[in-house]
Amino acid sequence: MNKAVTVLGFAGSLRRNSYNKALLCTAAESMPRGAELEIFDLEGIPPFNQDLETQMPEKVKEFKAKIEAADAILIATPEYNYSIPGILKNAIDWASRPYGDNSFKGKPVAVMSASVGMLRGARAQYHLRQVLVSLNMHPINRPEVMVAFASEKIEKNGKVIDGRARELIKELLENLVDWTLKLKR
Ligand code: FNR
Repeated sequence: MNKAVTVLGFAGSLRRNSYNKALLCTAAESMPRGAELEIFDLEGIPPFNQDLETQMPEKVKEFKAKIEAADAILIATPEYNYSIPGILKNAIDWASRPYGDNSFKGKPVAVMSASVGMLRGARAQYHLRQVLVSLNMHPINRPEVMVAFASEKIEKNGKVIDGRARELIKELLENLVDWTLKLKR
């Protein structure tokens, strides 16, 4: 059985019925034995202001503490204008600061995306992966969980009804947990 692994997940969407939040909920139901996913909502994180780095807003302090306490990170992102949404980049920028106190440093991470279009959020995922290099994280490469035509695969209540998408999410989480345990050794 796996040693306990804690994963913190967040979505780059504040939308109540977000398809990306739905991917996170499916991930929470598909966690390998001995592993747990906590979902954090980015709602309430203010726009980044470097003047406030030394007196971080409470919500940012909470976000940083949760990241630091987690063994691994799971990010589900929409694609906005071929890139990641501003709210996601904003939250990442906060948690990477102040200089020398990057909460993400050295953490394993997995990425998923859901899009209403046919390109599955791929462009956003690759922009995000570039940011992960700057954060010095250790991303999982495969499987690539990219859900196209999300409105046909995810119901209004947030249930992912596409069997292949559910399988890939499960496999991604298994790989993330294995990867996390390897890095912990
Ligand atoms: C989008 N959407 C979108 N989709 C895509 O595949 N490529 C894109 O470049 C964009 N650009 C874009 C910009 C903005 C400002 C919005 C609001 C939306 C559509 C996007 O896939 C759709 O809104 C998803 O439902 C967003 O994900 P959540 O909120 O459901 O998780």
